[in-house]
Amino acid sequence: MPAEPQVRIFGSPQELFRAAAEEFCVTGSKSIQDHGRFTVALSGGSTPRGLHQELVTNFSSCLPWDKVFFFWGDERHVPPDSSDSNYRMANETLLSKLPISPENIFRVPAELPDARGAAGKYEQTLQQFFRSKQGAFPKFDFILLGMGPDGHTASLFPGTAALQAKDHLVVANWVDKLNTFRITFTYPVLNNAASVMFLVNGDEKAEMVRRALKDPAANLPCQKVRPVDGELLWYLDKGAALKL
Ligand code: 6PG
Repeated sequence: MPAEPQVRIFGSPQELFRAAAEEFCVTGSKSIQDHGRFTVALSGGSTPRGLHQELVTNFSSCLPWDKVFFFWGDERHVPPDSSDSNYRMANETLLSKLPISPENIFRVPAELPDARGAAGKYEQTLQQFFRSKQGAFPKFDFILLGMGPDGHTASLFPGTAALQAKDHLVVANWVDKLNTFRITFTYPVLNNAASVMFLVNGDEKAEMVRRALKDPAANLPCQKVRPVDGELLWYLDKGAALKL
């Protein structure tokens, strides 16, 4: 049965990021205890910076980092040193500040000129790491997601082809309004996760959060993230939850 959203609201962005960091560490400890590793898909955008800072500042020893493996739920079609790169943001704000070996970091090869080729290579990376058979989907322990002002998540934007992708783990998704390809996990991967956390802050997102959580007819990409056998967390600050 797809998970119902568990909504948690915090008084300030700082409290939000602190709680998200705690949840990350608790989930990580349980995963490592249960099966010896913690597989994480990070999100892009700017919101995760607050979580990354919290993990580095106050939770740097909460997990055995050698047992934590980092992936990305989506990536822009840019090189890893681009200011738009989700990898670069995570590396600068999180990965380079913790004792994490490069062997534990699996970035999207988004520097490849062909976005479809990059998506295909990343899909192979996932299949090899998770040893998942053709047609099977990996089960991430934790997937962090944001929500855009149009209700997109990862790089699953309204009206784009990736919303229909069912037989791939990763696809290149042409996003007309950005005039660019993005590389993104598909719903089957997102919805196979053990835990998905939407991390959303700011009152500018309050109306979209209301629609996402209260209006099933809104037909937003973020609403279709419903882990079939996992937990769905919506971590919001007071501003983002203003209209709930
Ligand atoms: C990206 C993200 C994207 C992001 C939302 C929210 O690559 O940009 O994966 O889905 O999470 O757009 O972005 P903000 O956190 O910057 O509001």
